[in-house]
Amino acid sequence: MTRSAPPLSLAVITASVRDGRLGPTPAGWFARRARARAEFDVHTVDLLAHPLPLVLPAPGQEPPAEAVAHRDALRAALARSDAFVVVTPEYNHSFPAALKNALDWFLTEWAAKPVGFVSYGGLAGGLRAVEHLRPVFAELHAVTVRETVSFHTAWEAFDGEGEPLDTRSSEGAADLLLDQLHWWGSALRNARAENPYGS
Ligand SMILES: Cc1cc2nc3c(=O)[nH]c(=O)nc-3n(C[C@H](O)[C@H](O)[C@H](O)COP(=O)(O)O)c2cc1C
Repeated sequence: MTRSAPPLSLAVITASVRDGRLGPTPAGWFARRARARAEFDVHTVDLLAHPLPLVLPAPGQEPPAEAVAHRDALRAALARSDAFVVVTPEYNHSFPAALKNALDWFLTEWAAKPVGFVSYGGLAGGLRAVEHLRPVFAELHAVTVRETVSFHTAWEAFDGEGEPLDTRSSEGAADLLLDQLHWWGSALRNARAENPYGS
C-alpha cells in the first residue's frame, strides 16, 4: 500500500453462534489488535446477528421475508470488505455449520479477496477447522493466507479482560497474519479495480 492508499476494509467474522460461546473473546481480541494498525479499517461481523435459513432459495427466488434483511445486511458487510478474518472454533474436527451456511449464501462477495483464520479449540487449536475451510474458500474464489493464529485449550487461553495469556506468541502470530492479509488485500484490491474479477 502506498501512503495515499485508503485503509483496507477488514471484516472480523465470528463464526460460532452457540449459546455460551467463547467466540466473541478471540474475535474481540483480534479486532482490537487489527484496529491498532492504521492500514486497516476494521469492522466486525457476528453470524449470530445474521441468522440465515438452511433452506437456500431457488435461483432467482427471494428467501422468506424475515431472512431478507439478514441476508442483505450480511451481503453488504461482506461486499464492502477487502479482506476477511474468520474466527472459528473446531466442532467435530471441522468448522461450525452456521459458517458453512453463511458461505453457501454468497459467492461474489468473497471472490478475489484474502481470508485469514483465527482458530481455537481443544488440543488441535481449531486447525482442523482451518484446513477444511481452505478448499471451501478456494471454491468461492477467495485466497487463504498461510499464517494462522491458533488457541489450543481455548477456554483456558484468555484472562478476564479477554486478553490471551500467552500474549507474546499470540500477538506475534496476529501481526504476521495481518502482514500477509495486507499484502494480499492491497494487491487484490488494486487488481479488482483495474480489472473487475470474472469480467
Ligand atoms: C459440537 C462441538 C464439537 C466439538 N468438537 C471439537 C473437536 O472436534 N475438536 C476440538 O478441539 N474441540 C471441539 N470442541 C470444543 C470447542 O472447540 C470449544 O468448546 C470451543 O470453545 C467452541 O467454540 P465456541 O465456544 O465459540 O462455540 C467441540 C465443541 C462443540 C460444542
